[in-house]
Amino acid sequence: MLVAGNWKMHTDADSARALARDVAEAAGDPEGVTVVVCPPFASLSVVAEEIVGTPVLLGAQNMHAREAGAFTGEVSAPMLTSAGCRYVILGHSERRQYFGETDEGVCEKIGQAHAHGLAVIACVGETLAERKAGRAEEVVGRQLARGLRGVAPGDPDRLVIAYEPVWAIGTGETATPGQAQEMHAFIRERLQEQFGPEMGRAVHILYGGSVKPGNAAELFGEADVDGGLIGGASLNGADFAAIVAAAAEFA
Ligand code: PGA
Repeated sequence: MLVAGNWKMHTDADSARALARDVAEAAGDPEGVTVVVCPPFASLSVVAEEIVGTPVLLGAQNMHAREAGAFTGEVSAPMLTSAGCRYVILGHSERRQYFGETDEGVCEKIGQAHAHGLAVIACVGETLAERKAGRAEEVVGRQLARGLRGVAPGDPDRLVIAYEPVWAIGTGETATPGQAQEMHAFIRERLQEQFGPEMGRAVHILYGGSVKPGNAAELFGEADVDGGLIGGASLNGADFAAIVAAAAEFA
């Protein structure tokens, strides 16, 4: 199981440090659960200092597809690794929606992240209109096919998929465990087709979208749900730790 906290554009250096400390203390060292926190770029270094020597790993929320260059305001994969990151979230729906990210761009970024040894948390998910139109699998299937093109079979730990239905992000509305499992099984099938049965089985598929301590266990109990990508509830150390504890029940 894997539980990642996406802090989005929240926390400053002081509150990030305090939250990282809370998470490290409250989450402990649960067997079979990888715990990742993804603070804003500006707080990566302070969080890295705070979690050193604990099992909590560091991730970033985005990066640029190139290694270096005249790209004012951007952050590269080597910058992330040197800040202590092991993971990077790519293709989050907020990046797609507000910053014009495309599957092709996500694909380039995944290649770049992998070239620098970062594990990728690649996000996919349909909008409410797409679900209502019966196109959820078509949309997610396309995001996977285009986004993961170029990813070679190999180490399953380098790739994590986060299924985040856009209609469930930050809305308080969650996919039912059945809806999540149905899509996760579809994603698993696609991963097995592309990477072979063994790697396809081993890649963690996270559910994201209004996961809270109260609903985490029922979601994580589904066969193909291997953890969660947590937004709002990751900003509270105790809530995040309770979600990690729920994941540990199914590890
Ligand atoms: P949420 O966000 O848990 O606040 O819905 C999830 C995400 O966007 O990763």
